[in-house]
Amino acid sequence: MGWRVIDGRTEYMVNPLGLDERTPRFFWKLQSNDRDASQSAYRILVASSPEALGRDEGELWDSGKVASDRTAHVAYEGKPLQSEGKYYWKVRSWNRGGIASDWSEINYWTMGLLSREEWKGAWIGRKAEPNVELQPSPYVRKEFRVEGDIRRATVYATALGLYELRVNGRTIGDKFAPGFTDYDKRVQTQTFDVTPWLTEGDNAIGAVLGDGWYSGTVGFLGNHVYGERPFFLLQMNIEYADGRRESVATDGSWRTAKGPIVYSDMIKGETYDARLELTGWDRPGYDDSGWERPDVRAGYNGLLTATIEPPIRVTQTLKPLSVHKTEQGTYIYDMGQNMVGWTELKVRGARGTKVTISHAEMLNPDGSLYLDNLRVAVQQEHYILKGEGEERYEPSFTFHGFRYVELIGYPGEPNLDTIAGKVVHSDTRPTGSLRTSDPMVNQLISNIAWGQQGNFLSVPTDCPQRDERLGWTGDAQIFARTASYNMDVSRFFAKFMQDMIDCQQPSGAFTDVAPDAGWIRHKMWNTRLNWFAPDNAGWGDAGVVIPWTLYLMYGDKRILETHYEAMVRWVEYLRTNSTGLIRPDYANYGDWLSIEADTPNEVLATAYFAYSAKLLSRIAGALGKTDDEETYSRLHGDIADAFRRAFVSEDGRIHGGTQTVYVLALQFGLLTEPLRELAIRHLAEDIASRGGRLSTGFLGVGYLLPALTDNGRTDVAYGLLTQEEFPSWMYSIKHGATTIWERWDGWTEHNGFQTPSMNSFNHYSLGSVGEWMYRYMAGIEADPKAPGFRRAIIQPRPGGRIASVDASYESLYGTYKSSWTLDADGAFKLRVLIPANAAATIHVPGNRISIDGQPAAEGTSSFELGSGSYTFESRLQ
Ligand code: BGC
Repeated sequence: MGWRVIDGRTEYMVNPLGLDERTPRFFWKLQSNDRDASQSAYRILVASSPEALGRDEGELWDSGKVASDRTAHVAYEGKPLQSEGKYYWKVRSWNRGGIASDWSEINYWTMGLLSREEWKGAWIGRKAEPNVELQPSPYVRKEFRVEGDIRRATVYATALGLYELRVNGRTIGDKFAPGFTDYDKRVQTQTFDVTPWLTEGDNAIGAVLGDGWYSGTVGFLGNHVYGERPFFLLQMNIEYADGRRESVATDGSWRTAKGPIVYSDMIKGETYDARLELTGWDRPGYDDSGWERPDVRAGYNGLLTATIEPPIRVTQTLKPLSVHKTEQGTYIYDMGQNMVGWTELKVRGARGTKVTISHAEMLNPDGSLYLDNLRVAVQQEHYILKGEGEERYEPSFTFHGFRYVELIGYPGEPNLDTIAGKVVHSDTRPTGSLRTSDPMVNQLISNIAWGQQGNFLSVPTDCPQRDERLGWTGDAQIFARTASYNMDVSRFFAKFMQDMIDCQQPSGAFTDVAPDAGWIRHKMWNTRLNWFAPDNAGWGDAGVVIPWTLYLMYGDKRILETHYEAMVRWVEYLRTNSTGLIRPDYANYGDWLSIEADTPNEVLATAYFAYSAKLLSRIAGALGKTDDEETYSRLHGDIADAFRRAFVSEDGRIHGGTQTVYVLALQFGLLTEPLRELAIRHLAEDIASRGGRLSTGFLGVGYLLPALTDNGRTDVAYGLLTQEEFPSWMYSIKHGATTIWERWDGWTEHNGFQTPSMNSFNHYSLGSVGEWMYRYMAGIEADPKAPGFRRAIIQPRPGGRIASVDASYESLYGTYKSSWTLDADGAFKLRVLIPANAAATIHVPGNRISIDGQPAAEGTSSFELGSGSYTFESRLQ
């Protein structure tokens, strides 16, 4: 009973604004109390008004009753969508018994400005101040009149740089818009409905501009990577109730001035002089006669495309755990969590007093802030008081990675209410949850999630603290699967894929960093060494791994279609640049930051080449390109042959002998059956010879536990998971880690801190073990034959010292759960939840299996089940 449509989405979003996708896709979920509930048909109506939908008229599109079980990626097929159109839709679903649901709630979306000609505004900025390295943030403003009732007022805006939009004193939108793209190629545009914020009569609109990635410091590349100073483009289209239309757009009639933000740079921090505040500048009636005319930029050759990435927001506020006064009279706070964002400060004091807020991830042995690993980054704000009672401050266009905060020059005695930590990241909705009986494993799970949210900021950055914070493609690909369990990264990675495409080389090579921030253009890599080459093994392969991951987890075929040619070019590039299908031994990053185990570059690069070919074959298959499927499957087989001839000896030893060579050979399908058995033995021996410890770096680590489990050594996998001696995940946790460290030896008892030139304490790559915890420990796996979790494979692998696991994953169909307990006497109990219109193949370990209290047929350990909740019991001993 109860057949309901819920959670209608358009292009993965709830009521999105400003799309430029002309055939947007619809998503909905179903709810039912019945087991085995599935959809037999649906009908979608799209109209230009909710009233029409109320009359069940879809004048733009009536799909008719479509016999189908699809509830995701149903593409619009109605009349052409218009620029600025607002569209409403609803859907009704029939279950397999033919019972119809009620119509869903009415959802809507709007289209943005679909052609360049419709952008009427000019790009405006403020002339740079001479001889000033870090420039003040420009303020821009304009007043306008509203005469009559407004039906709809929409702002379309973007910047080369960053902008914070204001309308009549109110901040509209999110942080760090328009996000990080290759500005030479494109900039993303944002759309805001400002109807509620306009009033009859005088109104004001304006923005504060930041340098951001466009003109501020990017990584270790200095500033002005794309341009010298920020520019802003805005157009507000007002539709009156009587049909009149007006536009307010950026042009030479706006005014600009500098204000209290003396500078604000992502990598260099901010100075804010509150004495320079422009009180009331964003409201009507402000006297801007002293402001300057803006600097109008001739134009912009890149593309203006609708934002794909999720907005960047403050999602949490942390209170500090403790504060203490240092001998120097400063105050050091412990936030209790290595976090990304900034500090909000409350202060009272005399006008002109300067308070410095300094941020660090760790403390030195003497208790001072450990700043050495920041390289040239400055994680500091300087706030200069205006002296008017309680002042509250937070910075605008910078962010930091930190656990500790030092207040220097604070007037009076601060307490735990003086500061708060604002947690900032791309707002990707949490979708996974995982808890076990083991507190240390739970801490590891938490560290992975914190590492992800902190580093997913417009692009998947490597780290949030030093002068880097770049979209390293290798880090992204090894972590993509973990990331997609933890959070809804459908659009986040779709955007990153576009970044990768934007910097794909004419040769077909994908770059190591995306956006590549001008590295290639500025020839900032050393061609002789190929350091920062555009095609490092395990980095460039992200161009194939990420779309495949999005297909598996979200069933997104469109991403495969859109980027298919680019993926083919990548694989063909690898083929062309190899000899006898063996990739060259050149200065790849290799199995980056492995520990006393150097994997030969050519082994690693050839293995990844094979993997890209294998995924491409599957992708071709998913798209129905059977010839290509065959071609790339054969290519994979040929590379595997070449790999074995070149690197594998008869006794199953692989050149290099590292854990990573075995792991990659096993997981990328490079071995024959007899060789697999030998390889797993060599792998287990290597682990044992190191005292049950791992040695893998970025590229091997994500596959290590899966390789062991897939080949019958779940015991060894659990041993590694809970190993507490160095090097291991638990070693960092034993020493207080609250995020994943960049390196196994970031800090050790024997050596203290690793070299400060590369020692981040918030790098998610080694956290790619999260994937194994979801897919193997909890056993919630996507079925590639019914991608996007239309069907799951539930196959928990109990083991080690773990007595219970409680996991869930919110898929596009709804929530899957897998919870198990294992008693000391071998009694195993598994509870599974399958959402409506989905199904699962459930593999229950052990013997004497029962389902919902009834003994299962002798010899049956796999169950094909539809939606509902089920309980299984078995005995593992
Ligand atoms: C980054 C990494 C990246 C690597 C490339 C480092 O500086 O922090 O995460 O993948 O360079 O080898």
